[in-house]
Amino acid sequence: MSKSITFQVQPGGKLQGEARVPGDKSMSHRSIMLGSLAEGVTHVKGFLEAEDALATLQAFRDMGVEIEGPVNGELTIHGVGKHGLKEPKNELYLGNSGTSMRLLSGLLAGQAFNTVLTGDKSLSGRPMKRVTEPLAAMGAEIETTEKGTAPLRIIGKAGQLQGIDYVMPIASAQVKSCLLLAGMYAQGETSVTEPAPTRDHTERMLAGFNYPVKKEGSKVTITADGSLTAADIDVPSDISSAAFFLVGASIAPGSDLLLKHVGINPTRTGVIDILKLMGANIEVLNERTVGGEPVADLYVVYSPLKGIDIPEHLVPLAIDEFPVLFVAAACAEGQTRLTGAEELRVKESDRIQVMADGLQILGVDAQPTADGMVIQGGPIGGGEVISHGDHRIAMSFSIAGLRASAPITIHDCENVNTSFPEFRDLAKRLGVNLTCRED
Ligand code: S3P
Repeated sequence: MSKSITFQVQPGGKLQGEARVPGDKSMSHRSIMLGSLAEGVTHVKGFLEAEDALATLQAFRDMGVEIEGPVNGELTIHGVGKHGLKEPKNELYLGNSGTSMRLLSGLLAGQAFNTVLTGDKSLSGRPMKRVTEPLAAMGAEIETTEKGTAPLRIIGKAGQLQGIDYVMPIASAQVKSCLLLAGMYAQGETSVTEPAPTRDHTERMLAGFNYPVKKEGSKVTITADGSLTAADIDVPSDISSAAFFLVGASIAPGSDLLLKHVGINPTRTGVIDILKLMGANIEVLNERTVGGEPVADLYVVYSPLKGIDIPEHLVPLAIDEFPVLFVAAACAEGQTRLTGAEELRVKESDRIQVMADGLQILGVDAQPTADGMVIQGGPIGGGEVISHGDHRIAMSFSIAGLRASAPITIHDCENVNTSFPEFRDLAKRLGVNLTCRED
């Protein structure tokens, strides 16, 4: 863990060829959680073998679930049923993974045993009250630090949780999913209403496991009255990983790239909509449904981009893609303005500040605001930037190299392994002039 990784990108290049990026992170987490709680054996294909999803996998092994693999993205999960998890011997260490911690807090609140959830420095600084407060309203007992952060000490309240009707103050799929998982153990109905649509993989996968979930407009309702039947899951490629190459091919003249088997769930496709509004040339080909989730091949060729005001309704649908969209904005003609995205300040890093700082170092006029950024497109220079341990920042600045006029050095890139360990090899193969130094 003490190894530090530095990316170095030589300027220029174009992206060509075809690739299948690794499996969707959100769905990989959920496949372990629901597969573990199911009756019977669940087979998973396309599982993301990266640190975040592996943290969830280890947590369920620690709670007594037998899981074979992963081998080439394939897993066999021997489900223990809704009430079959066992008390782990130690704390559950969830690394950098906010999804693991927030979803598990809901699931574990209603178990017959106690647990402690811990994480790395970044995860230990992220807000957890957004889950512990509504869970407390359901009767959960979870202790946090004074600041409302991890470690989370969860006293299992089996049989004692009460359903609630919760109107979420923020658009968060993690909060929604946390409460739905708690609702599987609560008396009466648990309903969550979201202020704007967020990713609905939990709802879709629950339905795929035959667990009843009711959706009426922006409200989702679940009860304890159901069980999960094992299912086969085929995880598509992660559009959040594909996004780096969608932007890369859009900004680098001469690019021509096919990204295969990408998940295009409409709650995730904001990045395509935003890039198209900016003038990108992206075609969605061969649309099909795989295991209840829409999938397509994405064909992208270079096209000059123009600055836009990003429509706020697209923010939750592209929430993880803004670091690389800021790079697209830096390469666009004119001004791009993002508003309504204050959530970016509490991701793996403060993505507004960290991206603005890095872009400014590269000579881009990028002005952070409380809830977004204003970027004037123009030339990108070289320099040394810091990713602050945030995987998506490291990968975004690698893509910026395609349009830079001098080398870019990116420090602190270890956490690329949390979501996309193959990034450096794939980026190189497709045309980014990336080398990597390990100290
Ligand atoms: C995720 C939801 C999003 C996203 C995160 C994964 C999920 O977070 O940023 O990377 O799998 O539910 P929020 O729901 O907090 O916006």
